Amino acid sequence: MPLVPLAHVAQERASVRAGLGAFNVIHLENAEAFVRAAERVGQPVVLQISQNAATYHGALGPISLGTLEVARRAEVPVVVHLDHAEDLDLVYEAIDLGFTSIMYDGSALNYDDNVRNTADVVRRAHSAGISVEAELGKVGGKDGVHAPGVRTDPTEAAAFVASTGVDALAVAVGTSHAMTTRNAALDLELIGAMRRALDVPLVLHGSSGVSDEGMVAAIRAGMTKINVSTHLNKIFTAQVREYLDENPAVVDSRKYFGRGMNAVQDEVARLLSLYAAP
Ligand code: G3H
Ligand code: ZN
Repeated sequence: MPLVPLAHVAQERASVRAGLGAFNVIHLENAEAFVRAAERVGQPVVLQISQNAATYHGALGPISLGTLEVARRAEVPVVVHLDHAEDLDLVYEAIDLGFTSIMYDGSALNYDDNVRNTADVVRRAHSAGISVEAELGKVGGKDGVHAPGVRTDPTEAAAFVASTGVDALAVAVGTSHAMTTRNAALDLELIGAMRRALDVPLVLHGSSGVSDEGMVAAIRAGMTKINVSTHLNKIFTAQVREYLDENPAVVDSRKYFGRGMNAVQDEVARLLSLYAAP
């Protein structure tokens, strides 16, 4: 039961105007920390592994199999999600590995190619009981390109959802990936318009750049899946740096990983509580 598809849990959260925390797994310790935090506050969580993380590890399998096992042992519902996959072979590998959600990211393609590829992914994933998230209107920042000005058009988004059958849609509403300051200006009016135009949960990418108040306002306006990565990496790295400064003779990596991951776990528990229904 703990390993669940995205569609149902995201719809459930959306129906009560609550957020669903989605955090990036880069090292296996991330998966363990995110699940412990979700169990602490009794909320579902999304563990997401990006195409970039698979490239970093040299393959999708090893980090995914560990993450799936952490999810299976969890005491709360957990979605294991492939994040920002542009490579269709990787999408199909994730389906075979047992992921319960896939993000096919065709946002760099033209509209027609994005629709065609996304609809193909939806057919394959749905026949295996797996949910699909897609992106329309590129949320920049992944390649160092800061593009918070890009916006998704609600009418085009509604047509995209109808043509592809996706279960969740990532939209551009003022965030940008990999921000290390939390001062992104969200277009709350556009989020509201998108919520009214679409019948699938909305996904906020680049949420590291959004303040606590901004995230709550975005959720109340209609965002559901809240993707956070850089903010947690920043906390982890600061803690590790501090530990190493204080303990220059340390050689056991568990010591400084432990300090970093404890702080990450506390922050994820805090964020999940922030995303709770009003
Ligand atoms: O898909 C992942 C997220 O959009 C994370 O973005 O690193 O800016 O929080 P972030
Ligand atoms: Zn993203």
